[in-house]
Amino acid sequence: MSEQIVLLTGATSGIGKATAFGLAQKSFTLILPVRNLEKGEKIKQEILAKFPQSQIHLFECDLADLQSIKIFAENVKKQFSALHVLINNAGVWKNTFTLTKDGFEQTFAVNHLAHFYLTLLLIDLLQKSAPARVINVASDLHQGDIHFTDVELRKNYNGLNAYKQSKLANILFTRILAEKLKSSQISVNALMPGFIATDIFEDLPFFLRWLIPLVAKSPEKGAETTLYLATEPNLQVTGEYFKNKQRASSSYQSKNMETAQKLWNLSVQMLEQKGFQVPKL
Ligand SMILES: NC(=O)c1ccc[n+]([C@@H]2O[C@H](COP(=O)([O-])OP(=O)(O)OC[C@H]3O[C@@H](n4cnc5c(N)ncnc54)[C@H](OP(=O)(O)O)[C@@H]3O)[C@@H](O)[C@H]2O)c1
Repeated sequence: MSEQIVLLTGATSGIGKATAFGLAQKSFTLILPVRNLEKGEKIKQEILAKFPQSQIHLFECDLADLQSIKIFAENVKKQFSALHVLINNAGVWKNTFTLTKDGFEQTFAVNHLAHFYLTLLLIDLLQKSAPARVINVASDLHQGDIHFTDVELRKNYNGLNAYKQSKLANILFTRILAEKLKSSQISVNALMPGFIATDIFEDLPFFLRWLIPLVAKSPEKGAETTLYLATEPNLQVTGEYFKNKQRASSSYQSKNMETAQKLWNLSVQMLEQKGFQVPKL
């Protein structure tokens, strides 16, 4: 097999870190955007210590900063002539209302908008490299609906509701992107990694946090379905939701294509409002 190049967000911790190790073991070339280069370099050295032949390319990229995403995508396109797998894995859970550099609520901005923008900026490179795959790390917590009248929950912020909505957005984006790309050779799928002990819960109150290691699974277990979707040779599926390396059902709302298109339009509008053009699909 010729060189397979994968771009993975959120490789500095938890499920993403375990995914990076799994991909390095399978000899993928890794493009890793990280917001903290020092932390990224440490992970890179850990991977190299275990898999010395690994090709790992670190880039600084803050997903809470649209300009940083734009520059990163431009650099990727300058330095790489192919991209076979894009894994949108990074995520946050913010118990209090916080804003990104662009002035958007952080959970919606990082978990959905940043990955929406990054994916569209890289679509032409994926298209050129087809067959290619886009993998969105969502969650079974994708319950509820998109709050179109106040998508950033500015009037009544709640960390759990913001997180749930952002994970629903991941699945709606998966379905509509798959639909828009159905005549291409790019597959788009979403997944639930499981309930995994990671830093994502660090913002929760202490009485909830201490319970997590007792009941949650390991990051390595959490990486299994992502690795399956990235590496399974004969995967012919697109627009689906996976759990435990198998197709799984997702909520009724996550299948509503009108909602998916409405979210797409809103996402484009939010980006354009800040001066960031989105490639048309
Ligand atoms: N853990 C679970 O039980 C669970 C369940 C369902 C779904 N998920 C999903 O799994 C994915 C990975 O989460 P995790 O549990 O592994 O959490 P985690 O350990 O907290 O890892 C999150 C990753 O996202 C990165 N990140 C956050 N904000 C960023 C930003 N502004 N710019 C660049 N990178 C940023 C973090 O970077 P730093 O290292 O710099 O912080 C870290 O690498 C998320 O999408 C999450 O929603 C997790």
